[in-house]
Amino acid sequence: MIKMKQVVKKYTTGKVEFTALKGIDLHIRKGELSAVMGPSGSGKSTLMNIIGCLDVPSSGAYTLEGRDVGQLTSNDLAEIRNKKIGFVFQAFNLLPYATAYENVEIPLLFAGAKAKQRKERVMELLSRVGLADKVANRPTEMSGGEMQRVAIARALANEPDVILADEPTGNLDSQSGGEIVKLFHELWESGKTIIIITHDSNIAGTAERIIKLKDGMIESNGTRPQ
Ligand SMILES: Nc1ncnc2c1ncn2[C@@H]1O[C@H](COP(=O)(O)OP(=O)(O)OP(=O)(O)O)[C@@H](O)[C@H]1O
Ligand SMILES: [Mg+2]
Repeated sequence: MIKMKQVVKKYTTGKVEFTALKGIDLHIRKGELSAVMGPSGSGKSTLMNIIGCLDVPSSGAYTLEGRDVGQLTSNDLAEIRNKKIGFVFQAFNLLPYATAYENVEIPLLFAGAKAKQRKERVMELLSRVGLADKVANRPTEMSGGEMQRVAIARALANEPDVILADEPTGNLDSQSGGEIVKLFHELWESGKTIIIITHDSNIAGTAERIIKLKDGMIESNGTRPQ
């Protein structure tokens, strides 16, 4: 499903060039639940942005479901992001003035879903994450765990195959964090491919494999010996 070969990512700031990923080889199968760990600055979010088609490699090859991402136009990439990938971030990234309902509806609006379909789907998703009674709440009227559940419902709106989560429990207490991890496990059991960046080794320990990054390189990729 996700295949990287010698992926390099360079950032240029002013005249300074920095290589954040130094030749990543990675293969993630459909339906796998992986955790990505590594020190701050090791390239975890950079890797996630490339997997999620938010950014493209400077060199090397990345294929997603057999499509060479390097060959796609920015419109193709935007479509993949909307239809195939669900993103969940540490800071939730919800629209502050929109209700839970409206936040979850956004990707459905982008995908061109009809009003009736949208309503059914938003209600189904918010029930799925246990927030049927919070549809009208805005982010300031919810707990962190609830905001993250809204963000997960939003990530699931267009039934993505892949869910990418960058420190999804980083701003949560351990109980709400645990609930979020449980939700990811349910999604995994329903067949989604899930990649979670985390600093928490307890959370990483619940994944099928742990991919460890160090200085822009894979230190260990968690593949069990055959
Ligand atoms: N847009 C950018 N421009 C320049 N340098 C960047 C950019 N994004 C990331 N970097 C650099 O690339 C390196 C890897 O950053 P990245 O965000 O991937 O780290 P990370 O492993 O996610 O760290 P953290 O655990 O702190 O989130 C860092 O040294 C960072 O400063
Ligand atoms: Mg990061």
